[in-house]
Amino acid sequence: MSSSFKTFLKHAAKDFHNQSVNPPVVRASTIIFKSTKDIRKTQVKAQKNPIGGHYDYARQGTSTTYILQKILTKLEESYHVFTTPTGFGAVFLALFSVTRPGDEIIVSDPLYSPTRILTENFFKEFNIKTTFYNPHDLKTLEKSITKKTKLIFVENPGSNSFEFQDLKKILSIAKKNKILTAIDNTWGTPYFLKPITLGFDMAIVSATKYYSGHSDVMGGSLAVNKKVFSKVKAAERITGLRLGPDDAYLIIRGLRTLDVRLDRHRENAKKIVKFLSKFKNIKPLYPYKKGSYNFKMWKKYYSGSSGLMGLKIKCKNITSVRKFVNSLKLFGYGYSWGGFESLVLHQEHREIGTRKFFKLAKDEHLVRLHIGLEDPSDLITDIKQALKHLK
Ligand SMILES: Cc1ncc(COP(=O)(O)O)c(C=O)c1O
Repeated sequence: MSSSFKTFLKHAAKDFHNQSVNPPVVRASTIIFKSTKDIRKTQVKAQKNPIGGHYDYARQGTSTTYILQKILTKLEESYHVFTTPTGFGAVFLALFSVTRPGDEIIVSDPLYSPTRILTENFFKEFNIKTTFYNPHDLKTLEKSITKKTKLIFVENPGSNSFEFQDLKKILSIAKKNKILTAIDNTWGTPYFLKPITLGFDMAIVSATKYYSGHSDVMGGSLAVNKKVFSKVKAAERITGLRLGPDDAYLIIRGLRTLDVRLDRHRENAKKIVKFLSKFKNIKPLYPYKKGSYNFKMWKKYYSGSSGLMGLKIKCKNITSVRKFVNSLKLFGYGYSWGGFESLVLHQEHREIGTRKFFKLAKDEHLVRLHIGLEDPSDLITDIKQALKHLK
């Protein structure tokens, strides 16, 4: 990248042909050609340059999706980025591309719940075995390695409990044992962490979250290095997992302000954490406590922090936790995160599910907050009034 990340995002994808600051949305199923010779020429070009940009059918994309892929490839500093209809599609594509029946995978224990179901249950039916490791004890990872281990899959930080891991250590274990690596980097995005430059083979971001930033589109991105490119390309073709042009356009539009929004999410989140950390019965799960392992691991790898955090609340009365959550007026109750608005979610004990290395006591509760772009003093006033219900 010749300019900084921030400048690049503002100038990418100008369309001088149409004299437009933004690229056109090219919608297509059929791509038409002037002649048999013309279609053949495109197919030869596509074979010579499998990275993309040449299409004989729109399942391979259109110029709009290709522009988004090019922007993301620069942001990730990767060999290529595949885009998928959802973030979870990118998780699936990463796992499906490099694993086959008889293989084993090792996955970090605090995991986005559908990724857990996919690996632990669904893959089992295809004779792919999953073991989970403790993100804060990498000996549990090393111990799980066998000759059949194909992939180490990391989610950083862990969903809902927000553990940060020693990424370089994981990479060195993988390298020593010739195992591929993938990371779900949705929380940090390449604005705060560039996994491919660190040494990961694959890096996933749910574009539904901060890339789009406006809670109106779903999408996913899977950045890859050269080593795994062909495998992922083949899997992408056979699964048909591709983002549509309208969604690609909205994600390009969101990306223009990714840095501005993330900087503000971070500043707001830090103010909320400062306020909440005064309460004895509330432990913010966010990298702020100097000296803690999570803080050390975050500081070692990330250049910033986003707006998503957990709260571990100690309280005997679950009804009052629900009341606290339901009394928030500026925090919408719902799934997803990464948009401009604040959100809250109570993770009920049953939703923590089958984790092996994370336990909640009966009087402990997890609440997830996404800190949006509102005025932080309004958010604090709102939290203050809702906290009165926590008894
Ligand atoms: C960490 C993480 N990874 C992946 C996903 C899946 O993304 P999507 O909802 O776009 O399918 C999510 C969604 O919440 C997530 O939180």
